[in-house]
Amino acid sequence: MTYIITENCIKCKYTDCVEVCPVGCFHEGPNFLVINPDECIDCSLCEPECPIDAIISDENITDDNHQFLEINERLSKKWPIITEIKDAPKDAKKWENKIGKINLLEE
Ligand code: SF4
Ligand code: F3S
Repeated sequence: MTYIITENCIKCKYTDCVEVCPVGCFHEGPNFLVINPDECIDCSLCEPECPIDAIISDENITDDNHQFLEINERLSKKWPIITEIKDAPKDAKKWENKIGKINLLEE
């Protein structure tokens, strides 16, 4: 089991999630964060920290977000670790709950 970050994080990137992780397995890209599934210990502490519910257990993957397991696995190998909260993008609020943000994911 692992937790993963899904589409709603793209261009919002609030980073409230990163400081509660006991194993530091969050990685930061230009406009999205991912979790390293090989390091996540399934503690679930991060899930309630995200104000826009972008973090889910892999047990709750659906047809709409199934590709995000592969995205978290792949990009966590490429992007640096983030352990401290930082300011969200200035326009984060307007991107909340927008559909189709996967097309805006910058790798
Ligand atoms: Fe870190 Fe726990 Fe969230 Fe996994 S479930 S990413 S170990 S805080
Ligand atoms: Fe993204 Fe939510 Fe964390 S928007 S950076 S998963 S707090």
